Amino acid sequence: MTWGQAAVAATETDAAEPVVLHFADHAFEALPSGALFWRAENCLLVADLHLEKLSSFARRGQLLPPYDTGLTLKRLEADLNATGATELIALGDSFHRDEGTATLGETDRLRLERMMHRTRWIWISGNHDPAPHTLGGLCTAEVKRAGLTLTHHPRRGVAGLVAGHLHPAAHLSINGRSVRRPCFVHDHNLLVLPAYGSATGTLNIMAPDAATLFDWAGLSVAMVGKDRVYAVPPKRLVAGYEGW
Ligand SMILES: [Fe+2]
Repeated sequence: MTWGQAAVAATETDAAEPVVLHFADHAFEALPSGALFWRAENCLLVADLHLEKLSSFARRGQLLPPYDTGLTLKRLEADLNATGATELIALGDSFHRDEGTATLGETDRLRLERMMHRTRWIWISGNHDPAPHTLGGLCTAEVKRAGLTLTHHPRRGVAGLVAGHLHPAAHLSINGRSVRRPCFVHDHNLLVLPAYGSATGTLNIMAPDAATLFDWAGLSVAMVGKDRVYAVPPKRLVAGYEGW
């Protein structure tokens, strides 16, 4: 059984229908790229792009092909084209290190500038990129919008909090076979997006650091597949390899 077959077996949604997350009186379309389209605001939400991650490793002597930034930005451009979003909000850790804004290659910089030219852009700071920068758009720690708080770090006790940071993944076990993929996860108060970056690790949402953030009685999980997103019954989730 492939991960896709396992996910199909776990989902109750129609393959033709996008998975819509209903959270805090809002509806969000979960995209297989890992982005969330907030149609009512014509806004694309992404978390944890970690741009320039592999190039920063290369500069420290680890010889990894530094193509992650280009791959991530191409997917982002495709999402903007497909949705027609006029605003993008990046929920922190957009750059793997603060200096990543200065190391972008020419092609990547031009692609980013092209997107930012046509899109209202908000950079929320993360633990990897706490400093404001001069790439354009608005740099801020948090955004309040339509009763929601958009930020980097998830936390309990705040209604309508939309965050990143966790890099959540769902691990399923079906008929003795298992599959693990990035996921969207929310309860009634907290919604966390998967990491969007092409070179990011994941954390099993059953791991204590993640699991204790949520009210599991109200948990909804949507797993990112290759071509679509799958709603996952929480009862199918398993612990085990935690991640990163
Ligand atoms: Fe991150």
